[in-house]
Amino acid sequence: MSSHPVTPSDLVGLGKRYWLSVYRPRDVILDHGKGSRVWDTEGRDYIDFGAGIAVNALGHQDPDLVAALVGQANKLWHASNVFYSEPPLHLAQELVEHAPFAERVFLCNSGTEANEAAIKLVRKWAASQGRPPEKRFIVTFKGSFHGRTLASVTATAQPKYQEGYEPLPGGFRYVPFNDPTALEEAMAHGDVAAVMLEPVQGEGGVMPAEPGFLKKVRELCDAHGALMVLDEIQCGMGRTGTLFAHTHDHVTPDIVTLAKALGAGFPIGAMLVGPKVSEVMQFGAHGTTFGGNPMAAAVARVALAKIASPAVMLNVERQANDLRTGLNKLNHEFHLFSEIRGRGLMIGAVLESAYAGRAGEILDLAAAHGLLLLQAGPDVLRIVPPLTITDEETAEGLERLHAALAVFAQEAKVA
Ligand SMILES: Cc1ncc(COP(=O)(O)O)c(C=O)c1O
Repeated sequence: MSSHPVTPSDLVGLGKRYWLSVYRPRDVILDHGKGSRVWDTEGRDYIDFGAGIAVNALGHQDPDLVAALVGQANKLWHASNVFYSEPPLHLAQELVEHAPFAERVFLCNSGTEANEAAIKLVRKWAASQGRPPEKRFIVTFKGSFHGRTLASVTATAQPKYQEGYEPLPGGFRYVPFNDPTALEEAMAHGDVAAVMLEPVQGEGGVMPAEPGFLKKVRELCDAHGALMVLDEIQCGMGRTGTLFAHTHDHVTPDIVTLAKALGAGFPIGAMLVGPKVSEVMQFGAHGTTFGGNPMAAAVARVALAKIASPAVMLNVERQANDLRTGLNKLNHEFHLFSEIRGRGLMIGAVLESAYAGRAGEILDLAAAHGLLLLQAGPDVLRIVPPLTITDEETAEGLERLHAALAVFAQEAKVA
């Protein structure tokens, strides 16, 4: 083994030299965390408003998650799909018990895989209905993000993720988000097998479905014999203040995909399916080596139970209010945002057009002031902290954001 350099810039150098250049992380090397605070290798602390892109829902070093992981690590790491192990069996039951729409679960390792499974299930279902391939379209929405495999990136109706990967798989059609008329037109040909959407678009700029839109999608799906697929990979698992984001809209989806916060930091994904489609995929129709891994499932069981608890859901509401109030106050002072939107602890602060494209600069300044912040595209600051963030951590994060925005506003004035 080669000797390992230890200074932060040496470590960053390793990433730049050896990683495929698909990421551009900030020059911060995170070392450990506790609650909604993390420390870098130099001992500097940061308030965590990003939660590893909406993943660390219970913060860092949650003692119950640690106990679940360590307990399982001392028993069995992996079982494959050739033999049963206990954790994924219990997890599937518990997910279904929490999901009134669901009958069965497919466990996998990531959001992309959950969506890939959903896309394949839609196609298999349509085939089982005797529909020819040209009548198995899946409608998705502009600004969506569904993953990076060829099918899920094709579902992702944003050219920047697709460019250069052509030929893309066929059978997808895109319509503007929150536009019921456009959706109706897209379904009018009778060739749509499913409509797939995020109840709150994440990567596309933290854009919630407008009130009534999900209901309209359900109605159109019913009218045209199509399935309703909800991608709750980012907005699900309590982030909006209810375990599932679509609960606010009183709709019953046919398929829901989960990942990110499901493992609260340990990789796992899930596709939950309702009665219309729960028997479509039979032996050999789909699979994965690691999906439902006992370590991941043991952690996810604890994550699910804790996230679904009234205490955590109440905290989401409380911290969301405090964050929104704080952001509005900051905006009174600095006038940087045209809108603060989102749902629960999934908040987007949209930069005024004068500052369009400059979210990245604010992220740099935030990190320099001890705050981990995210963006959703070049124009939107994204705040998705752990669902367990405390009053003190929220207040301190807002103070640090204030300091970062003060510098940004000053620099913007001078420029
Ligand atoms: C809504 C949504 N769907 C799918 C994905 C892909 O998930 P993963 O990165 O775990 O493959 C993401 C990731 O950001 C997402 O936000």
